[in-house]
Amino acid sequence: MKGIILAGGSATRLFPLSKAISKQIMPVYDKPMIYYPLSTLMLAGIREVLIISTPHDLPMFRKLLGTGDDLGMKFEYIVQEVPNGLAQAFVLGADFLAREPGCLILGDNMFHGQGFSKMLKEAASIENGACIFGYYVKDPRAYGVVEFDDRGKVISLEEKPEKPKSNYAVPGLYFYDKTVTQKAKALKPSARGEYEITDLNKCFLEEGSLKVQLFGRGFAWLDTGNCDSLLEAGNYVETIQNRQGFYISCIEEIAWRNKWIDNKQLESLGRKLDKTAYGRYILSLIEY
Ligand code: DAU
Repeated sequence: MKGIILAGGSATRLFPLSKAISKQIMPVYDKPMIYYPLSTLMLAGIREVLIISTPHDLPMFRKLLGTGDDLGMKFEYIVQEVPNGLAQAFVLGADFLAREPGCLILGDNMFHGQGFSKMLKEAASIENGACIFGYYVKDPRAYGVVEFDDRGKVISLEEKPEKPKSNYAVPGLYFYDKTVTQKAKALKPSARGEYEITDLNKCFLEEGSLKVQLFGRGFAWLDTGNCDSLLEAGNYVETIQNRQGFYISCIEEIAWRNKWIDNKQLESLGRKLDKTAYGRYILSLIEY
């Protein structure tokens, strides 16, 4: 399984700096936003990641994340010239995926909760079909919405419906088998002119191969789309980290726990940041 992070789009809904800064590079509390979706892929055991972004933003991601070598990973980069839909990630990423199964995560989606790694590893082991997720929200109108029958079987998927058929929103995290590229290439743009991820998911639903896993109410799926939600996400990270002492989405820690890097490599990454609490946290992980 290979991973794709779609980190395009601008910060227009955040503040007037949108022309100068990429949203996903802005910090959520103490680390760049893109660390959160990257850590989700890493927890799924995915080592090869393609980062897709705008011509303006992509060089910043390349500068921030490099080749991935120092995390025992491999990063590739590709420009999306026009933000014409999430499903385009699989068309742009066709050569990268090379007919392997693929996971897409949106660069502004944050997940945190008990049992998440286990769910991710299960989803990443999918060989036939697709696995997406459902999360109960008060107002699902801004999302893809999934409807179930009495026995929990998925009966419909709709993108941003005015009258949602359920309260279950589909978060920006999708696992697909190797047919995904072929299916994405065959999609037609929607009425709003975008290659919709919901249409891609519908292909798997129609085939009878779509699995929807629900996140429980103790689970956090956080949005970072506007100033309020960005601040709330930062406060959430601060609260958990200060209470527990464990960091959320410390990519160096995850690479080390996955045994992709050893103690010496972790220490060298920590040393580079030892003026910061983040760097000191990395160093504290190594027991002497
Ligand atoms: O967050 C989950 C939701 O994400 C899903 O429930 C929806 O089904 C899905 O369509 C998507 O909805 P959004 O309204 O959040 O999509 P948006 O157009 O805002 O794009 C999400 C992120 O992806 C955003 O940071 C911009 C980036 N993007 C978007 C498009 C359309 C790209 O990088 N390229 C694109 O072509």
